[in-house]
Amino acid sequence: MQMAVVAVLGAQWGDEGKGHIVDILAARATTVVRYGGGNNAGHTVVNRHGTFKLHMIPAGIFEPATLNIVGNGTVIDPKDFIAELDGLMQRGIDVSNVRISDRAHVVMPYHVLQDRLDEQLRGDAKIGTTGRGIGPAYADKMSRIGIRMADLTNPNMLRQRLSAVLSIKNRLFTTYYASEPFDLEALYSEYLAYGQRLAAHITDVYPAIQRAISGHEAVLLEGAQGILLDIDHGTYPFVTSSLPGIAGACQGAGIAPNAIDHVMGVFKAYATRVGSGPFPSEVDGVTADALRQMGKPWAEVGTTTGRLRRVGWFDAVAARYAVNLNGIDLLTITKLDVLDELAEIAICVGYRLHGAIIDHPPTQPEDYALVEPIYETMPGWLTPTPDARSWQDLPAAAQAYVQRLAELCEAKVAIISVGPGHEQIIEMIPVL
Ligand code: IMP
Repeated sequence: MQMAVVAVLGAQWGDEGKGHIVDILAARATTVVRYGGGNNAGHTVVNRHGTFKLHMIPAGIFEPATLNIVGNGTVIDPKDFIAELDGLMQRGIDVSNVRISDRAHVVMPYHVLQDRLDEQLRGDAKIGTTGRGIGPAYADKMSRIGIRMADLTNPNMLRQRLSAVLSIKNRLFTTYYASEPFDLEALYSEYLAYGQRLAAHITDVYPAIQRAISGHEAVLLEGAQGILLDIDHGTYPFVTSSLPGIAGACQGAGIAPNAIDHVMGVFKAYATRVGSGPFPSEVDGVTADALRQMGKPWAEVGTTTGRLRRVGWFDAVAARYAVNLNGIDLLTITKLDVLDELAEIAICVGYRLHGAIIDHPPTQPEDYALVEPIYETMPGWLTPTPDARSWQDLPAAAQAYVQRLAELCEAKVAIISVGPGHEQIIEMIPVL
């Protein structure tokens, strides 16, 4: 085992297959920390125990010796969290190694309602959120009216905080949204019960994380969503409300930047996006059908919402932007096998906006929507790759394609995945 701290970031618009990679690397880590987002995320993990859909619990859960920490940077819907824990337990997975930061914020039912009502009010300008209350929960955190996981385990504190928050929220709901107020007693009893159920998991995670870092252990920081959905650097306002990049990893796990040894960007070999917002390399028609792989277990359908994902070619301009902003030094290229049946593969290598070439995404989504992608094409390999386990097993055209992505991103390829199975990877650089 190599002792290192490795951050595994989604480097596109989410759904890059981070869960698959963390599930594989977790066997070599003592600690996995999920650092941001909430149950808007969804990872499908296929391993020796079966196929699992995880939303909040780190993908290291299948390794009994690995500590799985849900960090302070996340927002947690306790009802869903308990359902996820119960689902895993029913399938024989030991969840005693799950720790929840007592500083993580709670997604309350009023956040979920607010998320849905705001989307209705936005009309045609809707973001296409997952409807899980994520934006309102992060907004309340920043407005300093959030409820934290620590509050759920302290009856007096919970009542005090909830009463203060509801005096603000209920005014908002009954006037602005013209909806019903939330009942303090009902919410108090329900959330106190969740706190009791989760009490064994909720803790101050600072000591455990510091111990792992100072002991030079192998630690994985597990991202959620993707860098292009980042609140600052993504396609605002069509973004999520957290920090999926490396700054979010440091802040949301409570780890100093110089404690991180590698920043691994996970990219699909093509691109997908769920929800609204610019996507210059988006394709439709038969190419989209091929990329979507409908009917297959790894079809491009959202794990959380069941929505069809939008699909497109690999966007090297957006990729370079993600690499530069986050110091990505290692690449994981997932789902290479999805391209197996394409005779020709395009890569977006440049953007043209109003006749000029630009080298990074424009600020305004209205401009981004007008960007014309500049493509280069490469021959496909028309050979199945799911059984490849080493670089030599890949057809020459597939090697050339991966090499071209690495060249465009200016980073080294560490892992290539060729299918959803645990063993369907080619490990070029052992990072842990
Ligand atoms: P929210 O995070 O539910 O507020 O949704 C904001 C935007 O982020 C929407 O376009 C969602 O589809 C997208 N989004 C949020 N989480 C994920 C994810 O895990 N994968 C892909 N897209 C996501």
